[in-house]
Amino acid sequence: MQTMPLNAKPATRVVQLLMCAPSAYDLLYEINAWMHLSDKPDKRQAWKQWEQLYQTLTEQVGIPVALIEQASEAPDMVFTANAGLPLPGKQVVLSRFRHPERQVEEPYFEHWFRQQGYQVHLMPSDCAFEGEGDAFLIDGTIVAGYRKRTDICAHRYLSELTGFPTLSLELVDDRWYHLDTCFLPLGGRLVAYYPDAFDWYARRVIEQHFETIPVTPEEALRFACNSVVADKQVVMPAGCPVLRFYLEERGYTVYEVPMSEFIKSGGACKCLVLYLTEPVNP
Ligand code: ARG
Repeated sequence: MQTMPLNAKPATRVVQLLMCAPSAYDLLYEINAWMHLSDKPDKRQAWKQWEQLYQTLTEQVGIPVALIEQASEAPDMVFTANAGLPLPGKQVVLSRFRHPERQVEEPYFEHWFRQQGYQVHLMPSDCAFEGEGDAFLIDGTIVAGYRKRTDICAHRYLSELTGFPTLSLELVDDRWYHLDTCFLPLGGRLVAYYPDAFDWYARRVIEQHFETIPVTPEEALRFACNSVVADKQVVMPAGCPVLRFYLEERGYTVYEVPMSEFIKSGGACKCLVLYLTEPVNP
């Protein structure tokens, strides 16, 4: 395996986001505990919520957003956090989805990254990995979830590829099936997280490595951890006043966006964006 150059600097700043407008967004299967065919998203509402998120990010937070077109046979492609894990030096580790329903997205994301000049790394074929949904690069350390959507073998691959250590965190509750549903890096060593989503040792790992803000069960269920962070600005799903209070107390500017129609599919603000650390063409 080719290893990244040793002088590669860890990603520190999000300079751009990748999003996918919900032109073919739908709920056509059940692959997580949130999805029920009997409770489908209202598509007009979903458009409105997505547009409000897009506008908040571009106009209020002031971060440029690149767009990828949604493939008609990929109703969950709006959740671009699962495209892959972008790495310093325009490299990306492409996702290898757990479920066939989402594997159809892989060629579209691969094509987009290649078109933008990314060097694309592929996971070994038997190793599930769901990109930024399950992995964050925090100051030269990869912090990654496993067991639900990402296999532990993916963590080894990420460390071998980058030379960065990986902190492996076991997810134990089907409702918090991606790391980004229960763990929110806020810059530096500060994170918010929902302790009950993790096994006891993962909680210990988090407490020993980070300064933590615990999220309440009520707000975890409203996807409080699934927020977008750009420096000291946070865009979070509506209805999480406790986390909002803690963030404002620490000097963050907080924006709220209603996310009900995406929560029906098991995602919210952060799932709908992919952090890019190098600018791409819009
Ligand atoms: N319905 C999608 C799935 O189950 C939701 C993905 C949410 N993405 C995320 N990064 N948490 O795969």
